[in-house]
Amino acid sequence: MVARKRERRSLLWATVAAFILAVNASFVEDLDDSFKENRKDDIWLVDFYAPWCGHCKKLEPVWNEVGKEMQSIGSPVKVGKMDATSYSSIASEFGVRGYPTIKLLKGDLAYNYRGARTKDDIIEFANRVAGPVIRPLPSQQMFEHVQKRHRVLFVYIGGESPLKEKYIEVASELIVYTYFFSASEEVLPEYVTLPEMPAVLVFKDGTYFVYDEYEDGDLSSWINRERFQGYLNVDGFTLYELGDTGKLVAIAVIDDKKFSAEHTRLKSIIQEVAKDYRDHFHRNFQFGHMDGNEYINSLLMDDLKIPTVVVLNTSNQQYFLPNKPIENSEDMVQFINEILEGTVEAQGGDGILQRIKRIIYDAKSTVGSVFKSSPLLGCFLFGLPLGVISIMCYGICTADTEGGAGEAEPLTEETAGRELTDEGTEGTDEGTEEEQEGTAEEAIELASGEQEQKTILEKKKD
Ligand SMILES: *[C@@H]1O[C@H](CO)[C@@H](O)[C@H](O)[C@H]1NC(C)=O
Repeated sequence: MVARKRERRSLLWATVAAFILAVNASFVEDLDDSFKENRKDDIWLVDFYAPWCGHCKKLEPVWNEVGKEMQSIGSPVKVGKMDATSYSSIASEFGVRGYPTIKLLKGDLAYNYRGARTKDDIIEFANRVAGPVIRPLPSQQMFEHVQKRHRVLFVYIGGESPLKEKYIEVASELIVYTYFFSASEEVLPEYVTLPEMPAVLVFKDGTYFVYDEYEDGDLSSWINRERFQGYLNVDGFTLYELGDTGKLVAIAVIDDKKFSAEHTRLKSIIQEVAKDYRDHFHRNFQFGHMDGNEYINSLLMDDLKIPTVVVLNTSNQQYFLPNKPIENSEDMVQFINEILEGTVEAQGGDGILQRIKRIIYDAKSTVGSVFKSSPLLGCFLFGLPLGVISIMCYGICTADTEGGAGEAEPLTEETAGRELTDEGTEGTDEGTEEEQEGTAEEAIELASGEQEQKTILEKKKD
């Protein structure tokens, strides 16, 4: 009797456990080999992960939340995850090159997610990319509503036309960055006057700009240039995104929390130039400010003191610093003109020397961060190999044989540095640090002419 009861109870528990598992599993599907065949009818948001990767583990709870929310809002997007090390051939077919890689798969297209790994950002991305490429705005109210929600708004005005076809084509690629709308002329606010129809407009910075094929070049690059506000609060991600535009980025590096006159003045000088000189500079320049100098210093491997102004060339990683303090917007305009004329000396860049400098710099900062977070561990980790090396050297020297030591030494140091990279970042446990590193590395890859990195959209042929 007792045995029976126990049996029944364990059966009950098993059912409950199975139920809980099923509920959990249904938010995020664990994908395997069969995914390639089964995915066709659905839109999928997939996290390609590796079991050993720290950032993947950090993403996992976020991913479960994403799955849960997508289901609760009734999204047609299915959320899955795939161990890219177990199914490496599928993963590489989808172009997975690092972990974690987040992709939205829609028909033959695969869209890469490159934003911050937070629930809201990921869901926003999935909804945007999974939804219609062009969203119609049927009424003035709709237009006003959308204008309030989006700081940068692209709208096509007019009926069927070659321009519209082009717009759809470009939008289906750039939907990873921004929304695209279409409307009829009546829907637009009164203050808008169109030189001709059909037209593509961008609403931003409290005004609007009309695309002009002759002046602005092809639609795709115009949208790429215009998809940012004229003045930005620049962080690592923004800078990375701006890399796709090839623009020069002029930023005030300040301490945003300090309301000292000097900091606010620099910021407003840049704001003023961005606004008043838009016609002159907006094709080649992006303006903004950056809070704190830590990120920029690690990117440039320099030691900029805040507040300051720096202009970065996102196409080749070079940067420019003013020779004299920027006191007013005239100074700033002069500085920009000197850069354009080539009379300001460029620093940094993506040459071989800079790369070597980068490796040394990264190794140094890793060692530094390990020592800062736990000096004992640092002593142990670096002391031990050094001790071993010196004993080896001593042994080699006293044995009176030369040769091998010279080669072995840098190798050992390098491997030590590399192994530590992971521990170092994990030890400090800071999201920003991860972003910084990622962005800096990726920025370099971008500049090295690796076009692959630049193509955010990969056409997949199965
Ligand atoms: C920025 O880099 C690109 C690519 O190397 C180069 O063609 C351009 O002249 C640079 N701009 C400035 C102002 O140095």
